[in-house]
Amino acid sequence: MSDSSPYSSQQFHSDEAENEISRLENQARVRWPQEVVILRNAGLKSGTSIADIGCGPGFITEFLAKEVDASGLVVGIEKNEKLFNVAKTRNAKYNQVRIVNNDACLLTGMENDVFDLAYARFILQHLPDPNKMLIEAKRILKPGGKLIVMDSDDSLFHITPYHKEMVEFLSEVSKGQIKYGGDRNIGHKIPCMLHDAGYININTSVYTFTSKNISSHEFLDITTKFKIDLLDASLKEWGASIINDIYRKSEDVSFFGSAGVYCVVAEK
Ligand SMILES: C[S@@+](CC[C@H](N)C(=O)[O-])C[C@H]1O[C@@H](n2cnc3c(N)ncnc32)[C@H](O)[C@@H]1O
Repeated sequence: MSDSSPYSSQQFHSDEAENEISRLENQARVRWPQEVVILRNAGLKSGTSIADIGCGPGFITEFLAKEVDASGLVVGIEKNEKLFNVAKTRNAKYNQVRIVNNDACLLTGMENDVFDLAYARFILQHLPDPNKMLIEAKRILKPGGKLIVMDSDDSLFHITPYHKEMVEFLSEVSKGQIKYGGDRNIGHKIPCMLHDAGYININTSVYTFTSKNISSHEFLDITTKFKIDLLDASLKEWGASIINDIYRKSEDVSFFGSAGVYCVVAEK
């Protein structure tokens, strides 16, 4: 098993990076109105200190900066150098934001008991040993601080009319993610993982969104197209032809897609 996620500097090429940055921007924009309610319920407000673990290009970091305002603190933690630099440039205008180039499973140099909240958004699925990140997040949280984990689970993904090859495609994508050490069906496993990592008061919600909330193309851009990058090189052409076919079929009024994310809030 490789210990590199597809985001590692060896495997994330520049055109892939551009596509992924734009996908993450769309995903952040579409999902944020629902997420901010969860985060506020967990305690996010003016003056909060929050770690944005695996912050990527920093779109969510910026939303968090506006929520905590100048009296708060947002520390974006990102391992991939390219994305770290994008996040840093993007958030340079906020005095309350620091972006650090660090491994979420090590958090080298970060002190114990510092943050009110930590947000791990779509990072767990990429980690070979997610427990390490959960333990590190607990270490940097203040006593009583909360970790919010948001992640997907491909078992919640469905499209109709039924597309037989889509099932094979998702199975190959899942194998690709496992090869990198991650897990595309991690969502439903998170509550148990948090319990095993010593968290208490674990609250789990499942949120769905569909191709009727947003356009069919936007739905597929966010949930599906990027998965070609996870396929074995020998399968990429096959995967691209399936995706093109689904985009074509999604223009039919009968098309319906649904996807879901798990959101788990737990206390140190
Ligand atoms: C799907 S992206 C999500 C980015 C951001 N949280 C968002 O929701 O827009 C996952 C991010 O986790 C980062 N990541 C993966 N493994 C990491 C690690 N061990 N330490 C820090 N960041 C990591 C990736 O580089 C990537 O930026």
